[in-house]
Amino acid sequence: MICALLNSYYKLGSMNPESISNDPQLDASGKLIHLLGLKGLPKTELEHILDVANDLLDNKGNLKKSKALDDMSVANLFFEPSTRTRNTFEIAAKRTSANTINVDLANSATKKNETLMDTMQTLKAMQIDMFVIRHKESGLPHRIASNINGVAIINAGDGTNAHPTQALLDMLTIRQHKGSFDNLSVAIIGDIRHSRVAHSDIQALSTLGVKDIRLVAPENLKFNGKAPEGVSCFDNLHEGIDGVDVMMTLRLQKERMMSADIPNEQVYFETFGLTDKKLKLAKPDAIVMHPGPVNRGIELDSGVADGPQSVILQQVTNGIAVRMAVMVVLAGKA
Ligand code: NCD
Repeated sequence: MICALLNSYYKLGSMNPESISNDPQLDASGKLIHLLGLKGLPKTELEHILDVANDLLDNKGNLKKSKALDDMSVANLFFEPSTRTRNTFEIAAKRTSANTINVDLANSATKKNETLMDTMQTLKAMQIDMFVIRHKESGLPHRIASNINGVAIINAGDGTNAHPTQALLDMLTIRQHKGSFDNLSVAIIGDIRHSRVAHSDIQALSTLGVKDIRLVAPENLKFNGKAPEGVSCFDNLHEGIDGVDVMMTLRLQKERMMSADIPNEQVYFETFGLTDKKLKLAKPDAIVMHPGPVNRGIELDSGVADGPQSVILQQVTNGIAVRMAVMVVLAGKA
């Protein structure tokens, strides 16, 4: 019912799963100059990034090297913890021959009350060309992009809003396994409300033409925004994954929940956790995805995380190819 209501709003043109406008990311000619989110990006742009990423992998799925950014410098500014995203951005910058720095924020002048914009302008004066930013505040990368010229801003996750490179690497992984997005059924399972990954994945799947997108979540963690056409909501895992091609599981984002909303982990696992037995409800060749970090025994059990249908580690490798591709495209080199 709620999804149906949301869908009718969407037809009026005001709906979107990423809640913040990505206005400054395209220049007047429509060229991508920042990557803030996937909202507003045409299908052709997403496919172009996926094609460039694909060309950066050999036929065994291993990464190639590129000289494309040998005249550029990239700075990572991570204000939130990260293993996969920060390290894969660093590796991606190095594999495209850029100079890379991880700004040591714990010991930077922001701790002496320098504003973030002053820190950014200072780094720009050090000839940094691209900034990769993760921050707990939704919309912060967008504000920075609107207030600084001549550099590219890449959103590596802003609050609960968007995580565009994660969604792109998820799309690359799905395309590798399923060939195309036509006729796919995709279930996104878990804490959809607080997940920037889910919000960008819904956007990407929708733009790429997936007609059956299922959001499977307990009542207090279900989608809270404006869902595109083709999105349906389930509070029952068995129904939500029945016959699907792809299962995207999500971590419980406890750090973003009110304490009353934090589910009992045992009950959550019994109701929404993926086990070998439940996997049989999906198509026999369905794939299981997770952006990481995985909580074994909560979102999925170890048999599933390490099993033949899991593509979780392939997602990590694809993350490097996609981040290389995004930087190369933003630099105008592809
Ligand atoms: C995600 C994030 O930080 O949004 N992780 C990631 O980037 N690989 C998801 C999460 O933290 O659960």
